[in-house]
This record gives sequence, structure tokens and C-alpha cells, in this order.
Amino acid sequence: MRIEVVILAAGKGERMKSLLPKILHPLWGRPLISYPMEIARALAARPIVVVTGVGSREVERACAGRDVAFVRQSPPRGTGHALLRVQASRGRFKRRVLVLLGDVPQLRVSTVRELLRFHEQRKASATVLTAVLDDPRGYGRIRRDGLGRVTGIVEELDALPHERTIREINTGIFVFEPDLLNDFLPRLKPDNRKGEYYLTDLVHLAVENGMEVAALAASDPKEGLGVNSRRELAEAHDAMRARFVERLIDEGARVLDRRTLYVDPTVRVAPGVALHPNVHLLGRTVIESDCVIGTGAVIQDSIVKRGTVVKPYSVIEESRIGPAAQVGPFSRLRPGTVVDRDVRVGNFVELKKSRLGRGTKAQHLSYLGDAIIGPGVNVGAGTITCNYDGAKKSRTILERGVFVGSDTQFVAPVRVGRGAYIGAGSTITENVPGGALALSRTEQKNVRGWVKKRRTTSK
Ligand code: UD1
Ligand code: CA
Repeated sequence: MRIEVVILAAGKGERMKSLLPKILHPLWGRPLISYPMEIARALAARPIVVVTGVGSREVERACAGRDVAFVRQSPPRGTGHALLRVQASRGRFKRRVLVLLGDVPQLRVSTVRELLRFHEQRKASATVLTAVLDDPRGYGRIRRDGLGRVTGIVEELDALPHERTIREINTGIFVFEPDLLNDFLPRLKPDNRKGEYYLTDLVHLAVENGMEVAALAASDPKEGLGVNSRRELAEAHDAMRARFVERLIDEGARVLDRRTLYVDPTVRVAPGVALHPNVHLLGRTVIESDCVIGTGAVIQDSIVKRGTVVKPYSVIEESRIGPAAQVGPFSRLRPGTVVDRDVRVGNFVELKKSRLGRGTKAQHLSYLGDAIIGPGVNVGAGTITCNYDGAKKSRTILERGVFVGSDTQFVAPVRVGRGAYIGAGSTITENVPGGALALSRTEQKNVRGWVKKRRTTSK
């Protein structure tokens, strides 16, 4: 059966203490609202109705897309009122409705699929996803009768003391048959401590009228946790970090410290890769097999190919490294860098938009920007490409097998031919032919006896 999804996203989120609407607060680089949106899209639900209120313009911008419809609810007068507004603006419900909340980001699509299956099997009029929490404070509690059948949901504020001890809570995620909504939404009354129209009141209304309301408890109760405060946002962040790390471990990564690995959900790591403490793997990074990523490395949107070692405290962005390369410690690879097979890049070497050919070495204290460096080149310590003249960037080209002595500057644009040598301390402003030695420093002069003479004259 086709379903429609309604995502509730109109609430104020006062407990966040922020001008930004709660559901636009970022969690792992994406607004909270994008999590239920992703579930709705994965289910190919049509339409996806988003109820907006506070900050509706920004929220609508964040959710825009195919098959998304918006319903405004302002002022927001409760979760039941939100569905009443959907009904008022779109007419009677015709499809099975999945209700998702804008502030429950840990929910998995697999759990929602299970909920939909369970609802179908039970032939229920409504099914609620519940979670059993050690600390149920703040949530609506599930009331059951002596036979364990769901009879209602009571909000914390309205709960009697003995009801507050119930640990099974309402995650706010529901499946409803359309008739139940059509018949009972208009009967909701705001007779509670908050004076709101509660969606949760549909449960006892339906049960009183002889309908079956089923409840499925999430196997991972964390999935049902809402984000209402900055502390809960931080907790969701931590829980999701742990989830991403666990996924890598399950896929075969060798994680040396689960507590300090920081990894985006979009990252891919081959089995057997060693990830040392405090590593950050971000964006679309891919780490291939047999790599070792050392302590404190930060790698973003990069591909690290087979057998490469990234030594500690290297920072790598939008680059391609390896196979079998060695980078770091303390290397900085800026966007557009390609480091080929067997290359060695050492400490305090900065690369930007540069390519280092197979087996090339740049081991110490260098800046190589906009450089095309062939295979087998040796870049001495302290080499600098002067790629910027204050107006434009220019290229440095070092052909195969060039040897660059220490403390050399290449004033780009400049090209050094195959196998040429650059004497240490040179400033290269002209092209160097292949096989030549280029030397630009002044000749050394030794003044004999100078020190002794100076002592005697200064007495
Ligand atoms: C709600 C449930 C509670 C459940 C909890 C799960 C009700 C009455 N209470 O409480 O049983 O345990 O979620 O997290 O349903 N929203 C609207 N319009 C409104 C009010 C809220 O769209 O008028 C949206 C909010 O933007 C939010 C979601 O609905 O995304 C939940 O609202 P919130 O105020 O956080 O409800 P809770 O008090 O957490
Ligand atoms: Ca909430």
C-alpha cells in the first residue's frame, strides 16, 4: 500500500534557547529536519507533507524538492493541531499516513519499515513506535491495560505520579489508517495542561471506539530520542558518532580508539585499515585496503589508495594519495593535490594543486603550489615554489628525475628539464634545460684570519 508521510516541523523549540528554529540546528553537518526527510524519501512516500510554522520560509527552503508539499501551522497549537491543519488544507486523508517528527534524528529507515510491516500484520488502525528508556522524563508515556493492550498515551505534564514511573515512551512516530484520522482528528480537544491539541489523544479515542492500536518497541531505544535542548542535541551528536564508528568496525576497520575517532557517515574504509586515535575522516573520503592512518590525521573529501601510510597530524583535503605513498608526520595537502605511487611527503611540507609523480620525494619544510612534478624527483629541504606574483598564479614544472638542492626557490612560471640539477640555495627564474646544472647563488668568499683581526681591533 502506498503511504503518505507527514513530518511535523512547526514547533517553536523554545528549549533550544536560540533564534534559529530548532529543526534547522545542524547535526553532523545537516539540519535536524533533513533526517526525517531522508527517511520519507527512502520510503518513496508521495507526497511528503511538511508542516511548518516558526521560521517556515527557511524550513521550506531546507526541505524543498520533488513530491514535497508544505502546510503552514501558525501559531502551532500542538501535534494534533498540525494534522488538523494538513486535513484543512489538503482535504480528507486517502492513504495510510506515516507521521514523523522533525526533532527525532536517530531513527533508522529499517525501523520505520519494520513499523509499517508490523502495522500491516496487526491490521491495526494505528500503530505507535515506542521506546523503553531508563530515564523517560519529558516524554509521553504509554498506558497499557492488564492484558498489555495499548489504551492511551499520557504526556508527562498531565501524568499521575504512578504513570511517571512508566518507562515505555511515545517516540512520536505513528502509522495511521486514513479513516481514523478523518473521523477522530476533529474530535480532539485541548483539555490538558498545555492547552494544545495532542495527536497522542487519538490513541484513547480510537481504543474507546473499539479500534485496534498497536505498539512496537524500537529495538534500539536511542532511535526514539527527541532533541529538545542543546544538551540533547549534543547527546544525539555523540550517539551518532558512536554509530558511525561502529559501522566502520563492523565493516572491518581496525579502530585503535573508538572514543576519539571522528568519522562522517559518508566515509568509506576498506577492511583491515588501521585508524589511530584522534583521526578525523570527513566528507566523501575513501581509504583503500592496507592503509594506516596515524594519530591526529584529518582527511577530508580525499582518496587514499592501497598501502598508503598517513603519519600523525597530517591535514589532507580534496586530494588523491598513493598507492603505497607515505605522507607526514605534519604534512599539509591542500585541494587539488595528487600524490602518486611510492611518493614520500614529509614534515612541514605543504602541497596545493600539485602533482607529485611516482617515487618522488619532498621530505622536509617545503611549499609546492601549482607544480607539476614528474617521477623520481628529489625535492630538497626548504624548497619553495613562488607561484603567486601578487596578481596571478603560475606553474612550476619539474620533469622526471630532477634533483633540487635545499633552499631553492622556483619563481613561476618556470620549467626544469629531465634530470637537471639545481644547486642548493638557488633562486630559479629561468627555464633549466634537461641534464644541466643550474646555480644562482653568489660565490663564497673566505677572508682568512678575519676573526682574530677583529678581536685585536676592538680592544
Ligand atoms: C511529543 C509527544 C510526546 C512524545 C515526544 C517524542 C505530543 C503531544 N507529545 O512531545 O508524547 O513523547 O513528542 O519526542 O504529541 N510540532 C508541530 N506543531 C505543533 C507542535 C509540535 O509541528 O503545534 C512539531 C515540532 O516541530 C516537533 C514535533 O512536532 O518537530 C514534536 O513537538 P515537541 O513540541 O518537541 O513535542 P514534545 O513535547 O517533545
Ligand atoms: Ca520533541
